[in-house]
Amino acid sequence: MALSIPTDRIPLFKSLLHLVMLYPLVNLYIDAFADRLGADPVDAVIHFTGMGAINCLLISLLISPLAKTFKLGFLIHFRRMIGLYAFVYALCHVLNFLFFEVQFDLTLFIGEIFQRPYITVGMGAFVLLLSLALTSSAKIRRKMKKNWQTLHNFTYLVALLGVVHFYWSVKSDISEPLVYFALYGALMAFRHDRLKRWSKRLRLW
Ligand code: HEM
Repeated sequence: MALSIPTDRIPLFKSLLHLVMLYPLVNLYIDAFADRLGADPVDAVIHFTGMGAINCLLISLLISPLAKTFKLGFLIHFRRMIGLYAFVYALCHVLNFLFFEVQFDLTLFIGEIFQRPYITVGMGAFVLLLSLALTSSAKIRRKMKKNWQTLHNFTYLVALLGVVHFYWSVKSDISEPLVYFALYGALMAFRHDRLKRWSKRLRLW
């Protein structure tokens, strides 16, 4: 039996989701300003917001396989919002880096983007995610017609770049990034047919 929620309850569930997404972020900054984040608070905020961004990205990619497999069509109402929270967390992550790590030194910031490959990859993911966030509204979707879907398929690339950036940023224990690679692979396996169609069009196999 397909599980559903009444359409008039969706705004309520969306409000709850806002709380679930915002609470950890607000709590993080309260702890940061109260000096409760341990010996390296800058590292802690960069870590927390980076993990928040990658988790939201993977959850947004999980929505449609879940909806299709378990006939939970109502979940689709929350996909855009979770994708936007991936952007909010990524924005905080980049701003934390800019304000706290390089102390708003723009020359150093730009230098880091070009000199450290893992930051180059992260920036690539961030710029793409920004373009997805800016074009996410229903109004822009209608205006862009078929091009909208083409652009928003780049979500798969953003998630891949995010996972590569995570893997590259880790200095010693790579087990956690490897788990994220596996999760990404599983999420892509659900889209096997679509990926095959694209690769045929590009003559990749
Ligand atoms: C969509 C874009 C991005 C995602 C999903 C993302 C995600 C992550 C994740 C998961 C980590 C590992 C956290 C940890 O274990 O400490 C990380 C680390 C980091 N990221 Fe990002 N990131 C993104 C973009 C960026 C950008 C644009 C920058 C800089 C301009 C950046 C700078 C860093 C830094 C400095 C670290 C910490 C590395 C260290 O531990 O020394 N990230 N990021």
